[in-house]
Amino acid sequence: LSVLVLAGGLSAEREVSLRSGSHVTHALRAAGVEARQRDVDGTLLRDLAEDPPDVVLPLLHGVAGEDGTIREVLELAGVPYVGAGPAACRAAFDKPTAKAVFAGAGLRTPDSVTLPQHAFHDLGAADLAGRVVARLGLPVFVKPRAGGSALGVGLVETAEQLPPALVAALGHHPDVLIERCVEGVEVAVAVADSDGGPVALPPVEIEAQGLYDYTARYTAGAVAFHTPARLPEAHADGARRAAVRAHRALGLRHLSRTDAVVTAGGEVFVLETNPAPGMTATSSYPAALEAAGHDVGRFFAALAVDAAR
Ligand code: DAL
Ligand code: MG
Repeated sequence: LSVLVLAGGLSAEREVSLRSGSHVTHALRAAGVEARQRDVDGTLLRDLAEDPPDVVLPLLHGVAGEDGTIREVLELAGVPYVGAGPAACRAAFDKPTAKAVFAGAGLRTPDSVTLPQHAFHDLGAADLAGRVVARLGLPVFVKPRAGGSALGVGLVETAEQLPPALVAALGHHPDVLIERCVEGVEVAVAVADSDGGPVALPPVEIEAQGLYDYTARYTAGAVAFHTPARLPEAHADGARRAAVRAHRALGLRHLSRTDAVVTAGGEVFVLETNPAPGMTATSSYPAALEAAGHDVGRFFAALAVDAAR
């Protein structure tokens, strides 16, 4: 079995993707799988035609990687690949769409408002801040409508903090999502889905000093993972059920990671589901695999075999 790992790309998460790629490529080779890694550029289709691998493993994060685009290209090339198809990736990557899908599937997701940049020209930032605060209360998270690794995400605790947070988010996407901040334990739930249907691994609790932002995510030792999460068993089970339901509702395949907050009362609020979760040395998905006794290389090898079928 030959696996071609795609990593890099042109999104703001390029560096993260390169780290995901090398982590998984090494793990595959250590598991005895023939794996090579390449970046994505205009020569990809030609190379896929001239030297087709058995399976492609797309580990691209962000725009044109996680939003379904690369999967369209792979469909076009007729090469099997690991992970979900284009439409499911598109739905998962667009936060308001994903939240509508979650709500439709009976999952809780924090209340939010999505606004295009021109709304701020029409109303003015201060007026808008007043309306948003009246509707959602404070604190809120301000996020680019689509994106990853918490780039452009800000926590807003006072009305004065809203305009600069909007500017930061709009630097990453022309629409912003303003989302009520739910208090509780932040968890990442890895879902593994090949032969027997989707299964959630034990939730990984994220203990960050402050925001779980880009620097915290990719600096070794900046964040403590608690695996399993320090939650009552029933609450952890609720998070696992929510992750499986989110994965299914979005139509994802092979793997996903659902990020959620579990309140003190055990309510699970789903924030998002990542169709191409980070696989770096400091990412929670490989940590969840290892804590559950899985070998990262063998796990991806099994997904590749399933994709090649
Ligand atoms: N967007 C990053 C890679 C993650 O979700 O892990
Ligand atoms: Mg994400």
